[in-house]
Amino acid sequence: PLDAAVLATRQQQLQTLGTEVASCRRCEELACGRRQTVFGAGSPAAKICFFGEAPGADEDATGEPFVGKAGQLLTKIIEACHLSREEVYILNVLKCRPPGNRKPLPDEVANCRDYFQQQLALIAPEVICCLGATSAQALLDTTESIGKLRGRWHRFGNAAVICTYHPSYLLRNPAAKRDVWDDMKTMMRHFGCEL
Ligand code: URA
Repeated sequence: PLDAAVLATRQQQLQTLGTEVASCRRCEELACGRRQTVFGAGSPAAKICFFGEAPGADEDATGEPFVGKAGQLLTKIIEACHLSREEVYILNVLKCRPPGNRKPLPDEVANCRDYFQQQLALIAPEVICCLGATSAQALLDTTESIGKLRGRWHRFGNAAVICTYHPSYLLRNPAAKRDVWDDMKTMMRHFGCEL
């Protein structure tokens, strides 16, 4: 178990970074359109980080990641892994809602890279689960499709990386839930947990 003092320091560093992000104006269009930034949520001691794309309307309104329709599905996926939202950490590539929920632009990902990399370095999870192509491609610095990236292990620093489909995609394409379940089984087997 992590030392309480180490965790308290980490919590403090995350909070400091979150405060910095809250006043970020690197992307003019996003800074003008947001109600608030959505930094991330969960345990600073998390062994697993779920890495999404960008806040939507519900997240922009609440300041919490993955609280809308896709978020409710992510919560179900997390619980199906015998985990809770409180014990994992959930973050996005972008901390601001893109207008009309459009895909993040390359410049926006570049502007936010330093934030998500610092977050991941502070939490130092054993596993990062990328949700969808945007986060997988941003983290792994690749243009490979999510269909090709999913189902096998990758690496980011000391973390093992598994990629799977985004919950929003599952809402449009429920048949892909089987593949996500396979990916979650692979992920949890890493921790000796057979689903
Ligand atoms: N989709 C994401 O990628 N992230 C969120 O926080 C919500 C929806």
